[in-house]
Parts: sequence; C-alpha cells; structure tokens
Amino acid sequence: MDLDDVRTIIGEMLDKLGRVVIGFREEQRLLLAAMLANGHVLMEGVPGVAKTTLVRALARLLGLHEDYEAEIRGVRYKGFSRIQFTPDLLPSDITGSMIYNPATRDFEPRLGPIFAYMVLADEINRAVPRTQSALLQAMQERQVTIGGTTYPLELRGRGKFFLVFATQNPVEQEGTYPLPEAQLDRFLMRIIIGYPGSLEDEKNVYRLHMGRLTEPLEDLEPLTEPGWLVEAQETVVKEVEVPEHIVDYVTRLLRATRPSIFEPAAKFFDLGASPRAGIALIRAAQAYAVIRGSGSVEEADVNAVVFPVLNHRLIPNIDRVVEYEEQDRYAARIRVIREGLEFVRKSLL
Ligand SMILES: Nc1ncnc2c1ncn2[C@@H]1O[C@H](COP(=O)(O)OP(=O)(O)O)[C@@H](O)[C@H]1O
Ligand SMILES: [Mg+2]
Repeated sequence: MDLDDVRTIIGEMLDKLGRVVIGFREEQRLLLAAMLANGHVLMEGVPGVAKTTLVRALARLLGLHEDYEAEIRGVRYKGFSRIQFTPDLLPSDITGSMIYNPATRDFEPRLGPIFAYMVLADEINRAVPRTQSALLQAMQERQVTIGGTTYPLELRGRGKFFLVFATQNPVEQEGTYPLPEAQLDRFLMRIIIGYPGSLEDEKNVYRLHMGRLTEPLEDLEPLTEPGWLVEAQETVVKEVEVPEHIVDYVTRLLRATRPSIFEPAAKFFDLGASPRAGIALIRAAQAYAVIRGSGSVEEADVNAVVFPVLNHRLIPNIDRVVEYEEQDRYAARIRVIREGLEFVRKSLL
C-alpha cells in the first residue's frame, strides 16, 4: 500500500459520507484524519445533529456492518458496538466480567461491548466517573483485564484496530458528570458539531429524508475491509514527510500556549499544551495532509487541526471566560480557547 492507495479510498469515503450527512465537510475531514492517525474522537453537540450517523456511516464504509464479527486468538470482536451511557452503567457493562456457568461449575469471562473495532460511546457524560474511567483507561491502554486475564483490544499484526467515538451534549444538564479534564487528552480530537451551517444545508437534510422511512446510510456499501485501516495508518505515519520547519512551527506554537514561557498567553490560558499534545498535533497534521492530497505536511495542515487537537487540552483563562458570559459558559470557554490559539499563532509571525 502506498500513499496514493490511501488517498484514493479516503477520497471515496469523503464522497460517500457527504451523501448521507449534509454539510459538516470540515468535520468529516477531521473525523477521517483522526481515524488515519489512530486517534479516538470526542464529538460534542446537541442531540439530532448527525453525530451517530457520521460514526455509523464510517463503520459501514470500513466494512463493519451490523453483524460483522472476527475471532482472533480465541477472542470474538464485534465490528461495531454502541454503548449508551446512563447513570446506572457499571464499568463491567463496558469491559466485561466473570460469570458463573452452572453447566461447567466454573466462572468464565463474558466479554463486554468494548470488544469491537469501533465503539460508539453515546452520551458519555451521563455515566458516573468510575464508569467513564473504565472506558478512558481502555482507550489509553488498548487492552482490558477481566478476572485476572488481560485481553488486547488492538492487534495490529492481525488487522484489528480499536477506535472509540464518544459523544456528549455540551449543554450542562442535571445528572451529568463532566469528563475529568486531566483525562480528556485520551481523545486525539474534540470535534464540535453545531447546527447545519446554512439554510440551504438544512433544507437538504430534509430533502434527503423525504420520501423514505429508513436512514440513507443503510444504502452505503463498504469501500474496503477493516484490516485496510491498520495498513493505511502505518503508511501515513511512515510516508508523510514532516519537514524541519513544521517541527519548528509546532514546537513554537505549543510553547507559546504556556503562560510560564510566553507571558502574554496568560490572557487566554491558565494551562497550556503539553508535549503529548504536540505529538498528537503532528500526527493529526500528517493525516490531514493526506486528506488534502499531499505527502508532506504544510503549515495549513497544522492550522486545520490545531483547534480540534488542542481545544480540550487547554484550560481557558477563567477571568476572560467570565467576561464573555453573557453567552453561556460553554460558548464562552470555546471562544476564549479559539481566540487564544489565534493570538499565539499570530504572535509567532
Ligand atoms: N446534516 C445532516 N445530514 C443528514 N441527516 C441529518 C443531518 N442532521 C441530522 N440528520 C438526521 O437526523 C437524525 C438524527 O441524527 P443522529 O445521527 O441520530 O444525531 P445525533 O447522534 O447527533 O443525536 C438522523 O435521521 C439523521 O440522518
Ligand atoms: Mg446520537
């Protein structure tokens, strides 16, 4: 597989995604970039804006239709799992548990829905922190331990990837538990999905659904098989060039978000980005370059991913957030982070 092969399939995926989800073209590119960079994604938006549809469409295009299953080294993995997060969901409802089998008079493992290639963790902020942690830990380690046995969730040599797409409603509600700030960096990107961008886009959503009772995505045929993604990821990380001036740009950008290094950043950020964020930024920019159709990262690729990769890793300056709070708290935080990133970028020039 070479970069051209990756680009061909990715181009077709983008095309097919665009037929079942109207608008959100940039968000679709970001989703594909995260996938190519082997990164989990947090999708933030109110209900009914096509978050689930996007993820399910992606699964189908990768050949992970509803009843896809693979058995690898005696472990069964589903293609696609959807877990609805609720206040009474337990960690073991995600990972699995040991259950007693009266026939054999022994305990045996019952593997949870996390044993899948793609996991849709819906409304993640409705579960209690302990349950959220079970998911976040599995995302980080790409393995889980049940009854003393550790099972891999990713087996790259066998074409088995493991990606989590979590959704949450940003509007603070009764009975939700915000994800711990310190663990948000398990997500390569946080992608914010708003309402349809234009009047015309929204009309097209309705036109797409008119005259049919089933979801348009059900017509999607697979473009490839799941093992393709593992190879594509390796191709991207090995073949896409990261020129020295890009390493320099990313490093200076990252350092400029840290008030202890670049004092003016304190107007926007209480906490800047870590080296882990820098690694994520470069990896995401490499994948984005491929989607743009290039084999070498440019500044524009870094700029395209800098907000989704960094927005959940920065802590906005609280005084500035309060200043903007004629809007709601969430919108104010996002605005401060957006302006801050814009500010540090301009400061580098
Ligand atoms: N931009 C859009 N393009 C196509 N369909 C859309 C769009 N926005 C919403 N829909 C439709 O609205 C319904 C809700 O979408 P869904 O993916 O379940 O939203 P969410 O997961 O964000 O709550 C689905 O039938 C979906 O096809
Ligand atoms: Mg949904």
